[in-house]
Amino acid sequence: MERQRLILKEQVPLSKYTTFGIGGPARYVAEPQDLEELREALLFAEEEGLPYLILGGGSNVLFPDEGFQGVVIRLARMNQVELKGNILEAEAGTTLKRLISVARDAGLSGLEPFIGIPGELGGAIVMNAGLKGHEIGDRLVSVTLLTFDGYVEELPPQELGLAYRKSRVRDMGIIIKARLQLTPGDPSHIDQEIERYLQHRKDTQPYGQKSAGCVFKNPAPEVSAGKLLDDAGLKGYRQGDAMYSEKHANFIVNLNQARARDVLALVELGKQRVREMFGYELEEEIVVIDAWGNNL
Ligand code: EPU
Repeated sequence: MERQRLILKEQVPLSKYTTFGIGGPARYVAEPQDLEELREALLFAEEEGLPYLILGGGSNVLFPDEGFQGVVIRLARMNQVELKGNILEAEAGTTLKRLISVARDAGLSGLEPFIGIPGELGGAIVMNAGLKGHEIGDRLVSVTLLTFDGYVEELPPQELGLAYRKSRVRDMGIIIKARLQLTPGDPSHIDQEIERYLQHRKDTQPYGQKSAGCVFKNPAPEVSAGKLLDDAGLKGYRQGDAMYSEKHANFIVNLNQARARDVLALVELGKQRVREMFGYELEEEIVVIDAWGNNL
């Protein structure tokens, strides 16, 4: 197959592409910059008889120390953004940070609460990323998918099965782009809001340390997994270079050279303690991938 433009790298450590800074080598990493190249990357995996997985900002994922014997398709180069009135249309690989900044410069409000979330738009939709009272799904007008049959479909958010930190998107296709509804706002007020949300995040979370955000979902809307783990005495508990954050117990931070197996040991310990002490069954929010590319 002729491949003139698609960027295809071999044996790249996945630690480079995750905010956790953890993960062994991927056999291939493809970096398409448009739909055509995305199709090309998928075809390449098929021709090589290799599994593939789609990677956004890598901010919610744990790759195994052994790496992945397949094709990681990174969407980071698919990052075109366009404003159409109060609607922001952006490709899946656009970082939330850039979206917030484009909206701010255009005097459009609505994305401020998401400041400090390190991911990209596609992943944020798949996970329905958010914080108390705000989810990315609330802002969606439509999402354009490349379906597994190879069709391009634009769907309203109601068809994506969006709920607390989940959606059905992974079973439906690959997000190419999305349209977000914003509202006009005064840029100086938007700036203040951005600053306020960011400060709160810095005050309450291990901002700037290597992590994958909250490890577990809250078991109920009014029950914080972080509080349960804290009450279970896990703040500061360490395995190798992985540690339950001293600032917020629902974050595991990579102090330097943490391995996936260290993180997984802490995950199991957290589940076990919370089950035994408080009777709650914690469920991972982070996506744990095995060496075959399956979500565990
Ligand atoms: N708390 C503790 N100890 C801790 C952590 C929290 O006592 O170690 C207490 C806090 O003091 C607070 C309560 O638990 O009274 C709730 O904590 P917080 O406001 O931090 O909210 P959370 O439920 O722990 C959720 C989201 C975060 C989001 C924050 C901010 C989940 C799993 N977590 O955390 O999302 O940033 O609200 O609104 O839904 C993420 O999804 O990756 C994530 C970080």
